[in-house]
Amino acid sequence: MGPLRKVLVLAAESANDTRLVTELRALGYEVTHAGPHGLTPSDADLYRDLVENSYDLICTHDIEGRLLSVNAAAEKALGYPRDTLVGRHLQDLLVPETRHLFDAYLAEILEQGSAHGVMRMCSADGQICDWEYHNSERRLPDGGRIIRGLAHDVTEQLRASRELRASEQRFRALFEQAAVGVAYIDTPTGKLLEVNHKCAQILGYADEDLASLSFEQLLHPPDLPLYEQRMGQLLQGEVPEFVVELRLLGQGGTSVWVALSVSPLLRGGARSSRHMAIMQDISQRKLAEQQREMLEAQLRQAQKMEAIGTLAGGIAHDFNNLLTTMLANLELARLDVEPSHVVTASLDAAEAAARRATDLVRQILMFSRKQPARRAAIALAPVVADSVRLLRASLPAAIAIELHLEDEAPVVLADSTQIHQVVMNLCTNAWQAMRSERGRIDIWLDAVVMPAPRPGAEKPTRFARLRVEDTGEGMDARTLERIFEPFFTTKTAGRGSGLGLSVAHGIVKEHGGTITARSRTGEGSVFEVLIPATDTAAAEVTGESAPSSPLFGYGRVLYIDDEKALAAAVSRMLESLGYSVTVCHSGDDAIARVRENCQSFDVVLTDLSMPGLSGIDVARELMRLRPGLPVILTSGYADRIGQDLAALGICLRLDKPFDRRALSEAVSGVLRHAVRAAG
Ligand SMILES: Nc1ncnc2c1ncn2[C@@H]1O[C@H](COP(=O)(O)OP(=O)(O)OP(=O)(O)O)[C@@H](O)[C@H]1O
Ligand SMILES: [Mg+2]
Repeated sequence: MGPLRKVLVLAAESANDTRLVTELRALGYEVTHAGPHGLTPSDADLYRDLVENSYDLICTHDIEGRLLSVNAAAEKALGYPRDTLVGRHLQDLLVPETRHLFDAYLAEILEQGSAHGVMRMCSADGQICDWEYHNSERRLPDGGRIIRGLAHDVTEQLRASRELRASEQRFRALFEQAAVGVAYIDTPTGKLLEVNHKCAQILGYADEDLASLSFEQLLHPPDLPLYEQRMGQLLQGEVPEFVVELRLLGQGGTSVWVALSVSPLLRGGARSSRHMAIMQDISQRKLAEQQREMLEAQLRQAQKMEAIGTLAGGIAHDFNNLLTTMLANLELARLDVEPSHVVTASLDAAEAAARRATDLVRQILMFSRKQPARRAAIALAPVVADSVRLLRASLPAAIAIELHLEDEAPVVLADSTQIHQVVMNLCTNAWQAMRSERGRIDIWLDAVVMPAPRPGAEKPTRFARLRVEDTGEGMDARTLERIFEPFFTTKTAGRGSGLGLSVAHGIVKEHGGTITARSRTGEGSVFEVLIPATDTAAAEVTGESAPSSPLFGYGRVLYIDDEKALAAAVSRMLESLGYSVTVCHSGDDAIARVRENCQSFDVVLTDLSMPGLSGIDVARELMRLRPGLPVILTSGYADRIGQDLAALGICLRLDKPFDRRALSEAVSGVLRHAVRAAG
């Protein structure tokens, strides 16, 4: 260590705008050899040199602010010659907007002996600079007071810190007001370090509640593996970032679909221990996608049904012709043999098969909505009773069918044929579910009142309830889920087509009702159908009536059908009922016959679709040739004809396949009506 030296230090601290001392400026001058009365002249010279060559602005002023001395740096910075500065009021050098602060500065320094701050001064050439000063009071031996001033230029420093602050504010606003959720996450622990408001809003949390959670806690458990896998890739450096769509758990456990983008936070170009997650709520889009998928599935299903409908419509015509021929011939064959004849059993079996085929065609047509509905206000009890009567005849005796009809079952607006079909389909399934050929089917019909819906809502509250309960093998949950799907069957080929319940479902839905099923393997099944009640009084019940004997009659029938085998069978049936029949195989032929002698026929029975003139064309022409001649239209395609049949003189439509009884009823009914009209 060398000898001690005495140093004069002129020092000033430097502070930034937050008033933290950032540097200490000092000018040191050795005064080891200064005498007791002060500096030697050479010392004073050196000292002056030090002050004069300082880059900082050094001055003195009196207690009113008048400058007493300035150094060269002040001269240079302010742009005025020293002699014009000395004697000038410091306040005048401040920019006008800050001059009012000068009194407070003077007061502070005089009260406290020092003052520290920033003065904004304007130089001679109009340049504005910020000077950070640290001034102090000096008391003179004569009691006078002067102020020492030391200041340095902080213009650049203040501008940079102002810009930094503005930039921070911009980024904070970006974070807080972003339209996407932003979360900073501690990578090792997964803890949420900071979340913006949008993030909390997406998840339905209060901002402060969310900040205490870890990000993994927010993941919908089934989506956690996906997140972990992608996060693993990110941490391994396999990907620089990732974007994934997954569900997060919102407040209260609701799941929220988000598009999540995760990237590591970089510090100085290297990865830090934090990562950032940006999330966008895509719940609405996901919902729309789900709805679109559902609609597409429905559309595909509808197109499938449409195709089946077209196909069914196409073959139904031919099938019904064939079936009418079969049934007619079977009935005719029966007429030719004694009931006790050995062939009767074969005829019965053939007829049962033909009727089952008839049923199948009707099911397909109904399923493809080709069968027109004929709704009326009806009581369901007779329809159900009628269906059960038919079933009883065809089921093995060991299967009991019990009917429980409650009187108060309400009147409904329904197509009795369709309701009949529903009962038949449910009961056929119930019977088929009985493996052992023994069992019991219970059918209930009663009224049920549903709890009132919202006040003012116009939903029906009263329903007719049909319940079909069986003691069959029941179903497991997976089967139960699919039973109403078209073509879903667990039965062997030939035994089930999987249409029964979908037809029933379609019918019930069209009636504004519901159909539900309950079942367990080995415990039988219960099907429940609800059809809304109507206020209209019941019309005559149109359920299938009990078979009655055919009605015999007489008269001259002109019969037109291009199907030769069918025409032959039907004409024989008509003859067996007492009518004289002329058969034509085309509309032109028939018209020619009538033209020959327009009085030679009492009734015309014509097929609808034929090559050349259709049944409708024939009716129209007959109307012209012989007004009032009754026409019966037979059709194998049970679709709407789209014409006003009565206006064409068509008094009845007889759907194929028809049997002898239906034919007899049609012809005799029309003839009776014609006679009455004529008389
Ligand atoms: N009462 C029941 N008991 C047990 N299973 C039933 C019952 N009703 C329906 N099912 C199940 O539902 C399936 C679908 O029934 P659905 O009536 O639609 O078609 P299907 O009976 O198989 O054929 P189809 O009725 O066209 O002849 C059946 O194959 C059967 O597995
Ligand atoms: Mg079935």
